[in-house]
Amino acid sequence: MTLKKITIAIDGHSSTGKSTMAKTLARRIGYAYVDTGAMYRAVTLFALRNKLIKRGKVDEPALKEHLKRGDIAITFRPTKEGKSVTVLNGKNVERYIRSMRVSNVVSIIAAIGFVRKAMVKQQQAMGKDKGLVMDGRDIGTVVFPDAEMKVFATASAEVRAQRRYDELRAKGDTTTTFEEVLANVTERDRIDSTRKESPLRQADDAVVLDNSHMTLEEQDEWLYNLYLDRAKN
Ligand code: DC
Repeated sequence: MTLKKITIAIDGHSSTGKSTMAKTLARRIGYAYVDTGAMYRAVTLFALRNKLIKRGKVDEPALKEHLKRGDIAITFRPTKEGKSVTVLNGKNVERYIRSMRVSNVVSIIAAIGFVRKAMVKQQQAMGKDKGLVMDGRDIGTVVFPDAEMKVFATASAEVRAQRRYDELRAKGDTTTTFEEVLANVTERDRIDSTRKESPLRQADDAVVLDNSHMTLEEQDEWLYNLYLDRAKN
């Protein structure tokens, strides 16, 4: 069986394990992987560090100017362990972009039209030669509407909050409560799905993956089989 190079778009709710599934699939089939949420998180970190967010309000003209001037350079760097880390202006910011401080306000930044435009442009450039797995919220609808494989990942809010809570614990955060994480997950769902700019929605030709009760192995096989189906000539 010959397989053609395709574009794989994985969208869905937050904390559905999109990046884990996308990374695993990319490694298995030898594709590049791009975490677009990390890009919005990096812009958010930049805005926080430069005091462009005050009491939940963003200084949009200043942020726009920084983007225009190229002050916010986001790239990905592979590590020796075979992982990929997010790099903001030459520095590894992986740890900081996953903090609650960033998670709490990233939806506000991701709702800004000119931020999305700049990110989408970069994402389309990264995927122009196909052969990549990209995960996010608008990949199958806006970034690559012609992607050969589109997955829409979902799971119950409680299952997703538990996953993020366990992740924070594993990273040494002992202060954030489960209720806070659940509130954050629910609030982000609301903002992501109701925003004016590219709201989170399932593309008509996307396949739904509800992994509330799936093991990682089952999920990986499911994705791999879908890939084989879409990539065969
Ligand atoms: O997947 P994540 O939790 O790291 O995403 C962080 C935020 O960025 C989340 O609020 C949704 C938003 N996002 C987006 O609007 N579009 C994307 N393509 C990816 C993420």
